[in-house]
Amino acid sequence: MRIETQRYTERFGSVRLNEVQKVLELDSGRAKALHPLENIAILKIEEEAIKDYEEKMAIAIPIKNEKLKLFEGVISGVPHDCLIIVVSNSQTKRVNRFRMEKDALNQYCNFTRRSALIIHQKDPLLAKALAEAGYTDLLGEDGLVRNGKSEGMIIAILLAALVKKSYIGFIDADNYFPGSVWEYVKCYAAGFGLAKSPYSMVRILWHYKPKVSTGMYFRKLGRVSEITNKHMNSLISFNTGFETDIIRTGNAGEHAMSLRLAQLLTYASGYAIETRELLSIFEGFGGVLPLVQHPAVKQGVEIFQIETRNPHLHEERGAKHLQAEMLLPSLSAIYYSQLCDGYTRENIINELIAQGILKQKKEEPPPPVMYQAPGEIDLKKFQEVMPENLTPYSALAED
Ligand code: GDD
Ligand code: MG
Repeated sequence: MRIETQRYTERFGSVRLNEVQKVLELDSGRAKALHPLENIAILKIEEEAIKDYEEKMAIAIPIKNEKLKLFEGVISGVPHDCLIIVVSNSQTKRVNRFRMEKDALNQYCNFTRRSALIIHQKDPLLAKALAEAGYTDLLGEDGLVRNGKSEGMIIAILLAALVKKSYIGFIDADNYFPGSVWEYVKCYAAGFGLAKSPYSMVRILWHYKPKVSTGMYFRKLGRVSEITNKHMNSLISFNTGFETDIIRTGNAGEHAMSLRLAQLLTYASGYAIETRELLSIFEGFGGVLPLVQHPAVKQGVEIFQIETRNPHLHEERGAKHLQAEMLLPSLSAIYYSQLCDGYTRENIINELIAQGILKQKKEEPPPPVMYQAPGEIDLKKFQEVMPENLTPYSALAED
């Protein structure tokens, strides 16, 4: 693969925020000696180097009642050497969609001789393991893991830690193009290959996000992403004193982290998670708030934003979902960050009023539900309760 080099890096304390890097060539051919003028503006990342990262990577797929055909397409796009971890919150009553997902995954793994784990988010054993390990934040009033994509992602982080993966990448289950799934993973690996710090994150920016209206329209950014990016950049600008538009991936559902970083961050519920991840990094390592005592402060946290060649096409869920489930939690995560200044807060309120989500200036958005860092829980206790057969090829939950 060939991608643009990091042309510009914004620094926020010990966080290195790289400007968007575009993919130029998906397949850059065999490894061979490079011309002296190569690898200056455009970097070649060899296939073998990418494979090394894929072997160490788990790909987490959160899923809730998606079309099975889409799920099958997504798993077929995940490179062979990655461990697939599916965390499902699909229905188990009447039509048991979780069983269908499990069967499809098992069949696929048998034919392709590869590894995968699948678990249901509402598995009582999982809830018990979390309670024993001290991660009660994640549990709702019924004692089971709360609903939400973020909750599914946190479970995937814990499972990836149990099976000793070094990296975790997230990919939604409702993607129409297996080829773009494949490219996301290549981009994750390429980003990790460029990182100088073991605490790194790769966020995907789609080349286009097509919409069908009168014809096909190749939109660059989603509406929610544009708004989130604007307010996130405002927060950074206020804290550094220099105006910036460096963040282009505030809501990037497709993103990956070294497990060391993933275990350090605090998370927010539902769809606020990707925004909250950035805030957690800035709060911990931006140097504005008291720095946490951690080697990551010295080594720094690196964030890459990589623009794919493939467009992104997924299920459409309508305006209500975008506003109430994505925009509001995302902006509320920024609003309640300890780093958020009065100016950004006021603009967020105005935005929410303009969007019809808040009625008047005196109103405040509801604070996000927050989750402690997965690294703080007792992973040994978690493992003791989880079934011993937590090994590749096993399907954890029985219904
Ligand atoms: N395990 C689990 N539990 N998965 C869930 C849950 C849940 O409660 N709710 C949704 N999912 C799964 C969906 O099935 C899908 O695979 C993925 O999480 C993303 O959910 P979508 O409903 O498709 O989200 P979206 O398309 O509106 O937003 C996506 O893109 C945004 C960026 O544009 C998400 O990835 C957002 O988090 C992201 O910000
Ligand atoms: Mg989607």
